[in-house]
Parts: sequence; C-alpha cells; structure tokens
Amino acid sequence: MRHLLDTRTLSREDAIRILDVAEDMADTQGREVRKLPTLRGRTVVNLFFEDSTRTRISFEAAAKRLSADVINFSAKGSSVSKGESLKDTAQTLQAMNADAVVVRHGASGAPRTLATSGWIDAGVVNAGDGMHEHPTQALLDAFTMRHRRYGAEASRGRDLAGYRVAIVGDILHSRVARSNVWLLDTLGAEVTLVAPPTLLPQDVSQWPVRVAYSLDEAIAQGPDAVMMLRIQLERMSAAFFPSEREYSRLWGLDPVRLRALPDDTIVMHPGPMNRGLEISAEAADSPRATVREQVANGVSVRMAVLYLLLAGERHDADGKDQR
Ligand code: NCD
Repeated sequence: MRHLLDTRTLSREDAIRILDVAEDMADTQGREVRKLPTLRGRTVVNLFFEDSTRTRISFEAAAKRLSADVINFSAKGSSVSKGESLKDTAQTLQAMNADAVVVRHGASGAPRTLATSGWIDAGVVNAGDGMHEHPTQALLDAFTMRHRRYGAEASRGRDLAGYRVAIVGDILHSRVARSNVWLLDTLGAEVTLVAPPTLLPQDVSQWPVRVAYSLDEAIAQGPDAVMMLRIQLERMSAAFFPSEREYSRLWGLDPVRLRALPDDTIVMHPGPMNRGLEISAEAADSPRATVREQVANGVSVRMAVLYLLLAGERHDADGKDQR
C-alpha cells in the first residue's frame, strides 16, 4: 500500500489486512510499555487545513507509539487559493523529507492531488477531505464492529458478512457516511441509511444501500449497529430541517428509541457529538455506546495504516529496500 485515499477503491484483502494488523497493534496497546521501535527515524507530518480534535490527536498518538518523528502543521484559514496553497505546502514537506503526510482538507480530492501531483514522495493518508471520504474513520468503525461481534482472536481474517448497520442523520454532508458505505459494502455488511430526504445525497440510489425515512422503522428491524451522525451545521448554507427540536424528535436517538433496540445492538458515533440533538445523553452514555472504544480503536487502526504504508513493504527477504 502506497497511500490510503479512500475506501471506495480499497480491496477486501487490503481492508482485512489493515484490520488484522490493527488487532496486533491493539494487543501492544494493552502492555505496560506501549511504544514500538518500528518507525524510528521516519517522519510523519500531520497537515490539517480543517479543525479536528480526535483525528489529529489519534494520528499523532499512533505515529509516536511507532517511534516516528511527528510534525504537526496546522494550515487553517489560508487566503491563498486551495490548489496553490497545497502545492506550496507540499514543497515544504518535500524539503523536510516527510515519509508520510496525513492530510485533512476542506476540498474533496485534495489528498489525491497531493498523492498524484508528483510534488512529494511521501505516502499520503486522507484524514477527511470535504464531503468526500474519511477512510481511517470507516476502518476504525469496521474494526469496532468486527471486534464486538467476534471478539479479538476470532476477528482475524473475517469480514462483516450479514452484519446490519443503520447509519442515521446528516448523510449528505458526511464523509464518514460515504467511507463507511463503501467499506461496509466491500466487507459484506448490509447498510440502511436513515435520514430526512433533504439530508440524503441526490445520487443515493446508486449507492449499495437501502434507504429508510423513519428511524422507528429502522430500529424495528433490529440492526446490529446504529451509527448516529453529527448534524454538520457548518456545512449547511440553507435550512435542511424545520428546527433542531423537530429534528431531534424525528431523527434523534432518544431514550425511548434506545430501549427499543435489541440488547446487543451497539450505538456508534464518530464524534464530536451534539448531545440532545442527534443523540441523547442517555444513549451516548449507555453501556451499548462504543464512542470511547471507537476513539481507542482509532489509534490501533492508524498505527496499522502507518505501519503498512511505511514499514510493510520496505524490505524484501534480502533486506533490499523496495520503496
Ligand atoms: C468527523 C469528520 O470530521 O468528518 N469527525 C471525526 O473525524 N471523528 C465527523 C464530524 O465532524 O461530524
């Protein structure tokens, strides 16, 4: 693997390989000394053109636990046109000998541009680009589902065949939803999108999903996982629903809906949560919520991705550098 730009083109084999290596990484995270020497002497640059808490910290922790040098580069608010500023920045990174660049950008496709422009030699990891994709989030979500379903040991090598996932809320603006849809489809899971018509993309009929317009109906189907999405007010230029109160009455995971779920259904959220809007405090804090587990798993999954990008195929059997 040279880059991780999306899940749409990620093969089943590569996806399962990442999840399996992430299981190995998770094992090491339970030890007293959690740091591995694997990426010593390598440089990972976190290049964030958009806000982030979880994802940036998670990549930083992952790189540091593999002993890489980490440079955090926050390039928010530049007035230069996006293409230009990206090129300028790329040239700086090239001069710093970055081995991997983790990029979050408001423009869909920015990570691919960086990977294919020839401006840099580094491996590129997409950490969220516009409304396009957020592949490591989908991988950590799949890791969490697989882990919950099969347990750590029995998870290895498996996909999510027959696993039923309801993704609820602001699908339209969500790169998390897109990355999850492609990956879950590749892994054999069955996805139902649940949202008001205004928050569904126009081309949704081309996606490998079912669509439901009632959360109560989706809950009555007894899904294995319910993934609640944040209402992304910052990406909304118009009114997509009458009021927050109305949204939460129809589409929010309130205590009554929470109780209607089968006992072993998990409740997921990529964060940041709008408590009281798409998810009630009762749901967010219930034992079936995997929110904190997702964050912890995110570090293992990102360790796996950085490892596979930077160390995985570096040497052949004779120790010859193949990069
Ligand atoms: C998401 C994102 O930035 O795409 N958050 C995350 O990475 N955990 C989702 C969101 O902002 O709602």
